Amino acid sequence: MTTGTAHVRLEGVVKRFGPVVAVAGVSLDIARGSITTILGPSGCGKTTILRLIAGFLEPDAGDILVDGVSQRGLPPYLRKTSTVFQEYALFPHMTVFNNVAYGLRLRRLLRAAIAEKVRHTLALLRLDGLEGRFPRELSGGQQQRVALARSLIVEPDVLLMDEPLSNLDAKLRVSVRTEIREIQQRVGITTLYVTHDQEEALAISDTIAVMRSGTVMQVGSSRDIYERPADPFVAAFVGQVNLLRARVETGGLRLGPLWLPLPPGGPPVDPGREAILALRPEAIRIGAGADARAGLTGQVVSRTYLGTTVRYRIELAGQTLTVDDHDPAGKPLLDGSVVVSFDPTRIRLWPASPEMLRQLVEGP
Ligand SMILES: Nc1ncnc2c1ncn2[C@@H]1O[C@H](COP(=O)(O)OP(=O)(O)OP(=O)(O)O)[C@@H](O)[C@H]1O
Ligand SMILES: [Mg+2]
Repeated sequence: MTTGTAHVRLEGVVKRFGPVVAVAGVSLDIARGSITTILGPSGCGKTTILRLIAGFLEPDAGDILVDGVSQRGLPPYLRKTSTVFQEYALFPHMTVFNNVAYGLRLRRLLRAAIAEKVRHTLALLRLDGLEGRFPRELSGGQQQRVALARSLIVEPDVLLMDEPLSNLDAKLRVSVRTEIREIQQRVGITTLYVTHDQEEALAISDTIAVMRSGTVMQVGSSRDIYERPADPFVAAFVGQVNLLRARVETGGLRLGPLWLPLPPGGPPVDPGREAILALRPEAIRIGAGADARAGLTGQVVSRTYLGTTVRYRIELAGQTLTVDDHDPAGKPLLDGSVVVSFDPTRIRLWPASPEMLRQLVEGP
């Protein structure tokens, strides 16, 4: 397939709907041939960004550049983008073949050329043999692949995908997202993928942009975002995290009766100030017993057996921690007093703002 690949750049893009600022000055680079994912909660402006790139909306300020060319004023049909929507939007009265061929027929390609391209695209998406079926005769995963075939066959420079897996059940989401990733890499098409599912974003992306209320909070690889979140919102939105309040002292942190050494890196927090500390559940170890010396003795509040992990809720120094114990097979489940330990280098720390403290109570 000779799909082009483009470099897309958003520069200070703003979009308002009356009083609502849906996109509040977003700048973002979508590297040629990459999957870049916009991850964020409902209403943060994800779909609006896709619609701006596709040309269904015009920005109120800022610009969108494709290979350095401003897209201002360019109608959707002149943009080299193709969108896969959440609801696949297949034509119910058309066969798989005709659904996939539709975009090429609009372009008045020769019959034989259309047949050849459809055959090639269906094979790429492992849909060969299904060309005569109607959408209602396909599984959800197959319908989603037909929708993807229909977008890829017109050889766009940019593929836009808006929560394409949300109509699928949990198992199918995992297998279709793996397929999307493999196809994207084979075709090498620049893709902007939108989801509010953090696990999907981590799994599929070269780059993730985490959004909140129309603003990009952090851009980075899956590892950057998970292991070095820029702020407590990103830490809490991507994966599970324990957010704890601590007071900074010279060279250390005080958490109730606990004193911990200051973790390396991160923004400086002045002694005497309150800080928010983030610690992932898998970074904490627990064992049976008590450790009066270190003061790191917690109490099991509850536990949930999840097969690959046991998730414990532990009360420690007046705060409650989530702790994941991996590979519990054969081990006794813990109860009562437990010794809690963790590597201080796994802690992320930020000076606490009033907004962060409010979030800590209300959730992001
Ligand atoms: N046509 C419109 N008119 C008025 N407000 C709109 C319009 N489209 C979107 N909005 C508002 O803009 C904000 C961003 O909407 P958008 O659809 O981009 O969110 P989203 O991140 O895609 O959310 P979801 O995950 O629920 O799909 C929301 O507050 C929404 O209500
Ligand atoms: Mg949306």
